[in-house]
Amino acid sequence: MNRHITLGEFIVENQKDFPYAKGELSALLSSIRLAGKMVNQAINKAGLSEILGKMGNQNIQGEEQAKLDVMANDVFISTLKSRGEICGIASEELDDFLVFDEPKHQNAKYVILIDPLDGSSNIDVDITVGTIFSIYRRISPVGTPATFEDFLQPGNAQVAAGYLIYGTSTILVYTSGNGVNGFTFDPGIGSFFLSHPDIKIPKVGKIYSVNEGNYIHFPGGVKKIIRWMQEIDQAEGRPFTSRYTGSLVADFHRNMLLGGIYFYPEGTTAPKGKLRLLYECNPIAFITEQAGGMCTNGTERILNLKPTELHQRVPFYCGSENLMLQAHSFLN
Ligand code: AHG
Ligand code: MN
Ligand code: MN
Repeated sequence: MNRHITLGEFIVENQKDFPYAKGELSALLSSIRLAGKMVNQAINKAGLSEILGKMGNQNIQGEEQAKLDVMANDVFISTLKSRGEICGIASEELDDFLVFDEPKHQNAKYVILIDPLDGSSNIDVDITVGTIFSIYRRISPVGTPATFEDFLQPGNAQVAAGYLIYGTSTILVYTSGNGVNGFTFDPGIGSFFLSHPDIKIPKVGKIYSVNEGNYIHFPGGVKKIIRWMQEIDQAEGRPFTSRYTGSLVADFHRNMLLGGIYFYPEGTTAPKGKLRLLYECNPIAFITEQAGGMCTNGTERILNLKPTELHQRVPFYCGSENLMLQAHSFLN
């Protein structure tokens, strides 16, 4: 690993490519990095502290909140609020978006949407979890409070997006529209170093990631995709390998590096699937396309969808081109 380029240096070097507000976006990415380090530290010692387990209440989407969901949410919000780079935040764990309107936020040009802790069901069993973020330039005028419209922009308006994966090592992956780069955290030094420059998703993948326990609920086209993955075809190397952790960040990160497809389709019990357009699908779609992969709701590009509500769910398919094209041929 090249220990010469830190995330901080990389951001400063590459801010030349940003068309506007260079310093602020760099500072914002630094704030995310700082909050990520705090969450990383808490996750690493979760079993020794009092933060495993459930809160005993549900979030706005009717999902049971884990203590770490709430802790990660609080860390990101307080860190970002204590600085002046954003005028508001929307989080998977909050009912509504938050407006930051202290004097120091007066000139803030950005909003963030965040899934503070992705893969909550895996926290207590020591399996990889993550944080996913998405950054937009506000639509409302600077100096006024952030509005609903600032948060409901289509994914193709994202300025930057990324995730932290708290796995065997902690890695921060992000794009600001000029390729995808990954930075591995060195806990001894306390810095992220460029470890995965210019990531490209292999055009041909052989891994599929889906919750097959829901098979009975899936539409016919989705069942065909799964059966096709499982058929014997020596020339193509089928049957393909199935890998699914239940943490989108982990399943996506693996497939991005090795080649594969992740899908969370609609089903009879989940008419729009499960994943959230604003906090999960859009940022992952931006990264996927920047890495040369494809990301759709089964028919349309995720990045072209016009959101109508904060916690909107959409069917989601993303990954290597060969598998995405094959999936589309069964879906349409
Ligand atoms: P979150 O923990 O932020 O609620 O997200 C969980 C998501 C995603 O990470 C994962 O791929 C999917 O839900 C798993 O859902 P199933 O348990 O239904 O497979
Ligand atoms: Mn999630
Ligand atoms: Mn979450």
